[in-house]
Amino acid sequence: MKDLNCCVTSCEKPLDESYWNMQYQSQTTGWDLGAVSPPIKEYIDQLKDPSISILIPGCGNTYEAEYLLEKGFTNITVIDIAPTLVEKLKRKFKNTTAIRVLLGDFFELQDRYDLILEQTFFCALPPHMRQQYVWKMHQLLTENGKIVGLFFNRDFEISPPFGGNQKEYEKLFAPAFDLKTLSVCVNSASPRAATELFFIFQKKAKVIVQYFTLQGVTCSNCTKTILDKIHAIPGVIDAQINASFSDLIVTSTNEIALKTLVDLLAYEPEYSIALQL
Ligand SMILES: C[S@@+](CC[C@H](N)C(=O)[O-])C[C@H]1O[C@@H](n2cnc3c(N)ncnc32)[C@H](O)[C@@H]1O
Repeated sequence: MKDLNCCVTSCEKPLDESYWNMQYQSQTTGWDLGAVSPPIKEYIDQLKDPSISILIPGCGNTYEAEYLLEKGFTNITVIDIAPTLVEKLKRKFKNTTAIRVLLGDFFELQDRYDLILEQTFFCALPPHMRQQYVWKMHQLLTENGKIVGLFFNRDFEISPPFGGNQKEYEKLFAPAFDLKTLSVCVNSASPRAATELFFIFQKKAKVIVQYFTLQGVTCSNCTKTILDKIHAIPGVIDAQINASFSDLIVTSTNEIALKTLVDLLAYEPEYSIALQL
């Protein structure tokens, strides 16, 4: 299955701008479906309001944006980190004001969107960035905003792409989003048949999601102790630390002051924590 072996390196290489740019320069883009993916097309087809603001992160050749344009949507933003690709997209969409093409890092975006379309962007990120992804998606959405798209429901021997499963996605997203749909996709593009989950996640507007970076934490036993302490803070709904012990996201009903967490970690002088905005 050509599509599923889309990338040839393991994750020892940093998956940065130069890695992705090289994929486009060498035309090693096995993930590219060459057309709007059927599940996303079907979702777009039932949208009523063509003026909603839509973001497509890690957009690649973005057949989805092209389709949205065809359907009369007027406020589409696409962003990708690979300059070679983005130059091509800027040329392609130069005659329309409906599509804004951005070169840059999704994690540095600061706007707000009603709808974010996800397709093989999440799986392109190293798994230690998943908590950061949840936080950023929550931050970028308007009050009733949604992320809609596809996640792989399988693992891979060579990554990227990085796989996952339903349970994992539920644990990751449920504190900050209402999981309206998360089920086996029945109309995937044929190379991905029976390997994807289609999802619709609506932002929980009443919760606050905060992202902190940690230093000095070195083991999963330590993270368990830290998480138990954070869960005991009034208002905290959920807290998760990533696989590299470097990122913490806290979902709560009220803002948790950095000082509260600094004090909570003071029992171990090696630990330090910073709030990311
Ligand atoms: C596997 S490709 C998927 C492309 C497209 N979504 C598709 O389905 O064809 C992942 C894309 O994410 C982009 N990317 C990776 N990290 C990024 C980041 N931090 N910010 C923006 N784009 C990023 C890559 O350049 C690449 O185009």
